[in-house]
Amino acid sequence: MKEIIIHNKKFTVLIPSEKIQDGVTGVAEKINSELKGKQPLFICVLNGAFIFASDLVKKLNIECEISFIKLASYIGTTSSGEVKTLIGLDKNVHGRTVVILEDIVDTGLTLETIVKQLSFFEPKEIKVATLLLKPEAYKRDIPIDYAALKVPNDFLVGYGLDYDGLGRNLEDIYVLAVD
Ligand code: IMP
Ligand code: MG
Repeated sequence: MKEIIIHNKKFTVLIPSEKIQDGVTGVAEKINSELKGKQPLFICVLNGAFIFASDLVKKLNIECEISFIKLASYIGTTSSGEVKTLIGLDKNVHGRTVVILEDIVDTGLTLETIVKQLSFFEPKEIKVATLLLKPEAYKRDIPIDYAALKVPNDFLVGYGLDYDGLGRNLEDIYVLAVD
C-alpha cells in the first residue's frame, strides 16, 4: 500500500490517478453532450479545483470559457461573524450558463455561498461540477449536476486538495490512515 507522510500524519492511497481520470472523463462526456451549444462559462474555485479544472477542460470538445475565483473571508465591521466574498470574478455571467468547478463538496457551505453570490448577477442557469462529493456530509438542496467520484466522509488529500497547504501536487488521492 502506497503511503506518504504529511505534517507527521500518515496517508494511504484511496483513489489512484487512473480512477480519477476515468471519473473526470465521465464528467467531461456528460458536459460535452448536455451543454453543447450553450457556450458555458466554467468558474474554477481556487485553490483546490485547479487540477480538476485543468484536466476536465482538456477533455471538452465544446465551445466554452474558463475563469477563476477565490473565496475570501472577512471579519464584518458590525459583527464578529465571518462574511465570505468572491474575488476575481471578471466575466459577465448575466444570461450565461455557468458551471461551478469545485474540488470537493463536503457540507456544501462553500458551494451555497458561491451560488448565492453568483445568482446576484443573474446567470441563465448555474450548474455544479465537483471532483469529489461526500454524500454523507452534504445536506443542502443545491443539485450537484456532475460529480466525478463519491467519497466517504474522511479527510482526503492530493490532486488539488491540501492538508494545511501541502499535498496539492499529488497525482493520486490519499486518505488519512487510522493507526
Ligand atoms: P464545505 O464548505 O464543507 O463543502 O467544504 C468545502 C471545502 O472544504 C473544500 O473546497 C475544501 O477546500 C475543504 N475540504 C473539505 N473536505 C476536505 C478534505 O477531505 N480534504 C481537504 N479539504 C477538504
Ligand atoms: Mg483547503
